[in-house]
Amino acid sequence: MMSSVLWLSVSLLVLVQVSAVENCHPGCRCDVESFGLFDSFSLTRVDCSGLKPGATMPIPIPLDTAHLDLSSISMGQLTDAMLSGPGYTTLVSLDLSSNHITTVSPSALSRLRYLESLDLSHNSLTALTLDLFYGLPLSDVDISYNDFHDFDMNVFATKVNAEPVTLDLSNNKLTTVTTAANGKTLHIQSLNLSANLFTSVPKLSGLPLRYLNMDANPIKRIREAAFLPLEELVYLSISGCKELWEIEQFSFKGLQSLQVLDLSNNPNLKKLDPKVFMGLDSLQELNLSNSGVVSLQNDMLAHLPSIKSITLGQDIRCWKTKKPGQFHLHLGQLQPTEVLICNAEGIGL
Ligand SMILES: *[C@@H]1O[C@H](CO)[C@@H](O)[C@H](O)[C@H]1NC(C)=O
Ligand SMILES: *[C@@H]1O[C@H](CO)[C@@H](O)[C@H](O)[C@H]1NC(C)=O
Repeated sequence: MMSSVLWLSVSLLVLVQVSAVENCHPGCRCDVESFGLFDSFSLTRVDCSGLKPGATMPIPIPLDTAHLDLSSISMGQLTDAMLSGPGYTTLVSLDLSSNHITTVSPSALSRLRYLESLDLSHNSLTALTLDLFYGLPLSDVDISYNDFHDFDMNVFATKVNAEPVTLDLSNNKLTTVTTAANGKTLHIQSLNLSANLFTSVPKLSGLPLRYLNMDANPIKRIREAAFLPLEELVYLSISGCKELWEIEQFSFKGLQSLQVLDLSNNPNLKKLDPKVFMGLDSLQELNLSNSGVVSLQNDMLAHLPSIKSITLGQDIRCWKTKKPGQFHLHLGQLQPTEVLICNAEGIGL
């Protein structure tokens, strides 16, 4: 008896009820998702993606809409009026992807005071006005697949709180980014710069990054201390850079929190001096698979005190293990020493 009551209340709690909304704009789909005991909790999701062009904007939506999808409706320009109707002020997420948007007017988003997630990917944007995000609690912004050549991170300076932001700027035409002026911090924690036109690592000061992706950029050389201000970085990927041929000694200086370094798929990277890895005190995983580097010098371990796994060449994996200490006539049993063992012969480690 007790257990069935328990079961009943648990199942009511997790029950998600989806019901359609009446008076939904033709061509859109409106659903109310209810959660919790007695449906105490509900949110409205409106999907107008692919609505045929020419609809009058703002498109009327239910008053308490939380999620709105306005993708693929050929907006062209995002004007101040287009997101100003009743129902828009409660939006938590907004999808404006694939709309051929070339300009966003300065106050277009100003009423969306609860907006956390914004998707502007697959448009034709080249610039944003600096107070576009003024007062918004954004935490997830996708601006991938646009036409930016430079991106000014200060657009996040007027956001309402210090909530960490995940920013996707992949697949633009970026050669530079502008970061915080005068020692200010912009709360960007995850930054995706893959598939842009960077020829060197950009200066990213004032960003408390934990994740950085620089994959598939035409970077030829990584210079000493290239990532110096990023002391909180945990994950760094520089993979698929076909032109990368040199990583200078001390390149990763200052990255004392870095745990994963992905240097895979860099075919022209043929050798690495052990001093390249100086300062990577927390590095646990190094990925060099399908790079030009097929062996490593045996004094590398000295610079990588936390390493657990290294991947090399086509299918070579090395991992750290303890070698039992040998018995020494005068010193007795010696401490075990740590060595890397690999699943292939002849790897110089
Ligand atoms: C970064 O962007 C690339 C290319 O668009 C994508 O494949 C990758 O999944 C992205 N990484 C993250 C963490 O979103
Ligand atoms: C290393 O990178 C390759 C290619 O990007 C990937 O397939 C593989 O899973 C990675 N290995 C590890 C251990 O992360």
